[in-house]
Amino acid sequence: MEHKAIHKEGPTFSRLIAGAWRWNLEESKVEQLIQTSLNADITTFDHADIYGDHSNEEIFGNVLKKNPGLRNKMEIVTKVGIKFCSGRRPKTWVKHYDTSKEHILWTADNSLKLFNTDRIELLLIHRPDPLLNPEEVAEAFGQLRKSGKVLNFGVSNFTPTQFEMLQSYLPFPLVTNQIELSLTSHAPLFDGTMDVLMKHRVGAMAWSPLGGGKLVKEGNQELFNKASKYGATQSQLSLAWLLRHPGNIFPVIGTTKPERITEAAKAVDFKMDVQDWFEMLLVVQGKEMP
Ligand SMILES: NC(=O)c1ccc[n+]([C@@H]2O[C@H](COP(=O)([O-])OP(=O)(O)OC[C@H]3O[C@@H](n4cnc5c(N)ncnc54)[C@H](OP(=O)(O)O)[C@@H]3O)[C@@H](O)[C@H]2O)c1
Repeated sequence: MEHKAIHKEGPTFSRLIAGAWRWNLEESKVEQLIQTSLNADITTFDHADIYGDHSNEEIFGNVLKKNPGLRNKMEIVTKVGIKFCSGRRPKTWVKHYDTSKEHILWTADNSLKLFNTDRIELLLIHRPDPLLNPEEVAEAFGQLRKSGKVLNFGVSNFTPTQFEMLQSYLPFPLVTNQIELSLTSHAPLFDGTMDVLMKHRVGAMAWSPLGGGKLVKEGNQELFNKASKYGATQSQLSLAWLLRHPGNIFPVIGTTKPERITEAAKAVDFKMDVQDWFEMLLVVQGKEMP
């Protein structure tokens, strides 16, 4: 597995990242998923405070508590900023975003406690908040950085202008924008999202790289007719398509099956031919490049 800096001043991550959104599972199962990921040299794990109705960080953290050697073998990414109605958050009556300094600081402390750790490698603002006050975010990030509780910062689902606006308030770099990017959601390759990240030498994290499973479940023969040429499975080919892009893309895989983690990890070994890349794009777009 390749390990690469997501930004020159940022953390080094495994090129494939294990996403924990769907890991609302028994602790023993999560332990197995963590071990399988690490065995495949996938060392970076993607979380959010809200995953599993606010319980996935805690389940993951219980595994870390039980296995003290694990923490230093991995990098943890988590997110803050979404609030939704939940029995665990009785004061919230409508889904909304909260990027206030108070909420960012409280959530980071809570995540540290739930993970049983003293640091988070990367904290992201989960969604662009129309009420985001960049000065407050900068203060919260600065405080977390100074205390060593959070080592790096980034955003998720931000447009290029939202990214550059927040960056302009920070004395240190946003190291990523985690965006929906796959053969089914390839707009960021054409709408300026990837261009602006590349302009700033910022790597992208690609969420739902298999379109949430849709890509492979549909079994589109035309799309995957190159699989035998590469000796690759459909999911490996979908990931290799993302990895072929020069923009330092880190796919965040979401499977809950250990064998699929092992399978996905091999995608980094395939180097896709440029014409095969465009042929796959042609199938999903339904038309040739202009
Ligand atoms: N920043 C954001 O706003 C945001 C939003 C969404 C997700 N994310 C992050 O991105 C991560 C990945 O998202 P995702 O789970 O949608 O990713 P994904 O890898 O595109 O989809 C995972 C889904 O595909 C299924 N799948 C995988 N391989 C399969 C196969 N060979 N055949 C049939 N089904 C297959 C999985 O089922 P099995 O479990 O049965 O394998 C799972 O349901 C999340 O965990 C989270 O960390 C971030």
